[in-house]
Amino acid sequence: MKKVRISDLLALTPEGQSVSVKGWVRTKRGNKNVAFIALNDGSTINNIQIVVDMASADEELLKDVTTGACVCVEGRLVESVGSGQPVEVQADKIEIYGKADSTYPLQKKGHSMEFLREIAYLRPRTNTFGAVFRIRHAMAYAIHKFFNDKGFYYWHTPLITASDCEGAGAMFNVTTMDLNNVPKTEDGAVDYSQDFFARQTALTVSGQLEGELGALALGQIYTFGPTFRAENSNTPRHLAEFWMIEPEMAFYDLEDNMALAEEFIKYCVQYALDNCMDDLTFLNNMFDKELIERLRGVVACDFVRLDYTEGIRILGESGKKFEFPCTWGCDLQSEHERYLVEEYFKKPVILINYPKEIKSFYMKQNEDGKTVRAMDVLFPKIGEIIGGSEREADYEKLNAIIEERGMSKETLWWYLDTRRWGSAPHSGFGLGFERLLLFVTGMANIRDVIPFPRTPKNAEY
Ligand code: 4AD
Ligand code: MG
Repeated sequence: MKKVRISDLLALTPEGQSVSVKGWVRTKRGNKNVAFIALNDGSTINNIQIVVDMASADEELLKDVTTGACVCVEGRLVESVGSGQPVEVQADKIEIYGKADSTYPLQKKGHSMEFLREIAYLRPRTNTFGAVFRIRHAMAYAIHKFFNDKGFYYWHTPLITASDCEGAGAMFNVTTMDLNNVPKTEDGAVDYSQDFFARQTALTVSGQLEGELGALALGQIYTFGPTFRAENSNTPRHLAEFWMIEPEMAFYDLEDNMALAEEFIKYCVQYALDNCMDDLTFLNNMFDKELIERLRGVVACDFVRLDYTEGIRILGESGKKFEFPCTWGCDLQSEHERYLVEEYFKKPVILINYPKEIKSFYMKQNEDGKTVRAMDVLFPKIGEIIGGSEREADYEKLNAIIEERGMSKETLWWYLDTRRWGSAPHSGFGLGFERLLLFVTGMANIRDVIPFPRTPKNAEY
């Protein structure tokens, strides 16, 4: 008998045809005459209803058809008489693959998100997380499709690296040294020459620097992979391990970069609206009544382009009492970003030309000597969703800033070399995949849009 996934089954015309369906029991109810089993196989938010005629059923076996159990049902697909579903399966035979007794943690509905986070190994079996993780997949696919269709190449950058792209000192060391007996040099420092790579290495905070090497050869590339930050920020928007998409383009200036970022996000959001409506509708109804409206709003509007200096002026004149007052030169806090996006402009804002002191070394310096050609895309409810810039292509200027910041040329020599031979104007940005998912799913905590979150003091599963 043909195996059919529930998503496909629900779309069939019921003609009493034989079907075999496998999945996990969500609920069972009924009476002496008939039992109704709601079955889900993860292919859709919707369950298939299994109808069991008790006159011919094996009652002992049915006792083990409990919430969480995994079963295989053979039967006939018929039109459903009850409301709520177009078709149902009239069961002829039920086989139990795996029982689930009353200790199964997902018995009743309405668990808190905190509790579900503690049982992250089971939460994909809930409606909410099924929806979120199907959307996560769809967004990953949309991202590859967007760049492939535009002629970008998927470029794989190393996860283990010796260079600190963002210079924030938030890297996880990678070593095979015995931590109880670390080899030391004569002057007492750690002797990395005895380590696996014969040098100090860490997990990457960004694939950008190696991404630039790709762009300066293949023209336009993108990365899409895990990124690691050992910053101790326990917020609803930070993970220690997150996925980042980093396109990098030769011959793009900041204007081109902004246009691509806007087109890219809108494409992803529109893809979700076109392909994930069942799941979005569920999340909209359960968690966030304005979710779908907000997604449509972003696709339809033009993002604001705003100078950092102008942003500071607006914040200063807002008359609002911020927890951290903001003057020219300071890094914007989430409260400032959200004021600009949610209250002042009421749409996404691309903030550009930040003070150079608060941005990374690789950004192109403006003529004013004070600012760099940086861009942050700020989103409602999220704050910063994208960070990027035009890159400094001038060897002398880049060399000077690396020296000024006391950065290591021993690890960055190859990056500088790209400005020595065939340097080209180029730009790129990084989109935090989970930040995009926060926006698209309406979830409030970034721990709830990745299957197994890594945060300070938490690396379970
Ligand atoms: O602004 P960031 O630090 O920029 C870079 O890493 C650049 N190298 C990107 C580039 O130009 N190629 O990070 C980029 C984005 C942020 O805007 C945010 O969406 C996300 O990555 N991000 C995080 N997401 C989750 N948890 C964290 N700890 C994050 N840190 C950054
Ligand atoms: Mg940033």
